[in-house]
Amino acid sequence: MDGILKRSVAILKGYQTPWGAFPAAPSFPPYEYVWLRDGTFIAYALDLAGEGEAAGAFYTFMAETIVKHGHKVHRALRAAEESRPLGDEDYLHTRYTLLGEEGREPWGNFQLDGYGTYLWGLASHLGHQGRADRPYREAISLVTAYLCALWDRPCLDCWEEWGEYRHPSTWAAIYGGLRAALPWLEPSWEEKVLSVLDDLPAKLRAEFSREGHFVKFAGRPGVDANLLWLAVPFGVCSWDDPTFRTTVDKIEEDLLGGGLKRYKEDTYYGGGEWVLLTAWLAWYYRLRGREREARDLLEWVAAQADEEGRLPEQVPHNLNSPEHYAYWVRRWGPVARPLLWSHAMYIIAATPGEPGSWSGF
Ligand code: BGC
Repeated sequence: MDGILKRSVAILKGYQTPWGAFPAAPSFPPYEYVWLRDGTFIAYALDLAGEGEAAGAFYTFMAETIVKHGHKVHRALRAAEESRPLGDEDYLHTRYTLLGEEGREPWGNFQLDGYGTYLWGLASHLGHQGRADRPYREAISLVTAYLCALWDRPCLDCWEEWGEYRHPSTWAAIYGGLRAALPWLEPSWEEKVLSVLDDLPAKLRAEFSREGHFVKFAGRPGVDANLLWLAVPFGVCSWDDPTFRTTVDKIEEDLLGGGLKRYKEDTYYGGGEWVLLTAWLAWYYRLRGREREARDLLEWVAAQADEEGRLPEQVPHNLNSPEHYAYWVRRWGPVARPLLWSHAMYIIAATPGEPGSWSGF
């Protein structure tokens, strides 16, 4: 294992609570919560690194947390049946405290992608074990019901923005999660899930492609680096799909400097280059056999570590908006470091072979 790889595993394990939770970033107060999205990729990376027990502790913590908040799923299903808008008491939050409680401070909590991502990661983890006991079975049923009822509602995207829109990256995570969960579902859910799996890809293509590529969301002509997720890892389209290939070309053209940005108009901390997305592109290159380009990007990622081997969320290179960088530093302090998800994506991109049985393509 190279130095940063080893250090990344140590950092992830070092910040895990004894009951399995991972803060997104331990020394950055707004991120001292567990996100399903960040946490799942962390657990996925640990499975890849041969740390299945630590990964399992996270999935169990999260399943218990979901079951504890299961009444919200029932409220969400009722609201969906009555075609009512959802209030805060009707949906599952996107992040929880390290003890599995909802956060009290105001936050954009309605985000569906993390729940799809969680199903995807959990199914991959269970792939090693060949069985699903409690609390997994119950959590899988709750999340499946929740996603089948709500998947095409507008919600905040994975960057916690644009809540009045629907997003291809969110749909990709939901698709990847439901598909991966199929072998673990109660038989009564199969028909419903299959019908969502049937509908979603065609609707995604109809709603989110324009001029030969996928777009960040309907009405936005540009790309977001999160469109990589459509193929890797969620497999809602193949990486050979012409629209996907053109999307990757555009991501490279518009967003790639040394590292990869989220999207052109991003102003969060000035809109710098994101470590986890750069590793994501390296993951895609590696899966495609573009080893040299993968290696170059991973070297860039490793070079962003500080003397303690800690990776940040983003680096202020080539900023979209330097004034916003200063604004966010004044508001929340320096960029989050270590960001555990950055370490997770480095491990995933740098480790050949995939755990479990996902086959996105
Ligand atoms: C990012 C999310 C992430 C969260 C915690 C936010 O700024 O946009 O994608 O889940 O930080 O890392």
